[in-house]
Amino acid sequence: MFAHLPAAEPDKILRVMAEFAADPRDDKIDLGVGVYKAEDGTTPVLKAVHDSEARILERQTTKGYTALSGDPGFRNAVAELVLGDVPQERLATLATPGGTGAIRQAFELARKAQSDLTVWLSDPTWTNHEAILDAMGIRWRRYRYYDPATGRADVPAMLEDLGEAARDDLVLLHGCCHNPTGADLTAADWSALGDLLERRGAVPLVDLAYLGFADGIEADLAGLRQLSHRLPEFLLAFSGSKSFGLYRDRVGCVVALGAGQQAADAISGTLASLNRHSYAFPPDHGARIVATILGDPGLRASWTEELSSMRTRINTLRRSFAEALTEATGDPGWQVLAEQRGMFSLLGLGDDAVRQMREEHAVYVVGGGRINVAGLTPASIPAAARAIADVL
Ligand code: LMR
Repeated sequence: MFAHLPAAEPDKILRVMAEFAADPRDDKIDLGVGVYKAEDGTTPVLKAVHDSEARILERQTTKGYTALSGDPGFRNAVAELVLGDVPQERLATLATPGGTGAIRQAFELARKAQSDLTVWLSDPTWTNHEAILDAMGIRWRRYRYYDPATGRADVPAMLEDLGEAARDDLVLLHGCCHNPTGADLTAADWSALGDLLERRGAVPLVDLAYLGFADGIEADLAGLRQLSHRLPEFLLAFSGSKSFGLYRDRVGCVVALGAGQQAADAISGTLASLNRHSYAFPPDHGARIVATILGDPGLRASWTEELSSMRTRINTLRRSFAEALTEATGDPGWQVLAEQRGMFSLLGLGDDAVRQMREEHAVYVVGGGRINVAGLTPASIPAAARAIADVL
């Protein structure tokens, strides 16, 4: 049976992760996979997570199944966190294995509602968005998003392309910390996007994988809430990987708003059946950690503070790296890196440059030149900047 099985194409991001792990050089620098790292290169368990987990271990009396859609306490806590005012009668939620699971189930849901589905993806976007849609056989189109000349979002181009979106198309948006460019939308841009989606009757799917990493929890939610507050239909895929540091525990949630109670009930039932047909019940442990943190004022305050220190560290690294690159290359254009948000920036390096960085400088970046700023330290910044200046 498997003699003719074609080899699977390795994922671009995960390949860099494996190559880095296999490199014996001591001075190697990992700017590949999007994982937060502290100054000492570790990805720590947050104290709020640790305390929440200890509480669960002490108090949990059963490992019996939760609901098919996942623990309602978790789902409601996430919906309240991301939407603020939750129109309960229009709400449907689903716990999933990670944000990727939420994206996949959101695509499945949309296809069940619209069999001739088109999904619009920003150019560029997280490579796995395209890969998942291809694996599912769902048609997708790109909308222009990033202008490499300025390092910012090209909003007129985005709006022009999305002007072709049809009723019931799905438009995938990055809630904050655009992956891979770090170029986010302003409040005015979100508002223009809301006008356009309303006019076209297209439905947003917001990928929210980096909440709290741009400018703060409330600030990072302000844009997407413009959409959830005004549009009749709204989808969001939440990830607990980065914001709670729960990467391997796979915490995700679909948050959906239908036009009314009847639609919300249909969405709820469909989402639950998607879980049933994929893996039956979603993982619970990480979700329960998140629900415990969000439901306890002390733990929530501790989490907010830790999230804020991760954000501050990244934004400080951004400023230092922008300075170092400006100095190493003599090009002040790099200052835009300090303006961009989240873990990623796109340096626009070709395949040869990326290979040279890896082979000659032991600096690992994803193809296309995406860097994870959180992989830098004050000590490694000069070497990383010199490597980039060298290959450019
Ligand atoms: C990334 O973009 O590096 C992260 O979202 C991790 C992943 O799974 O790709």
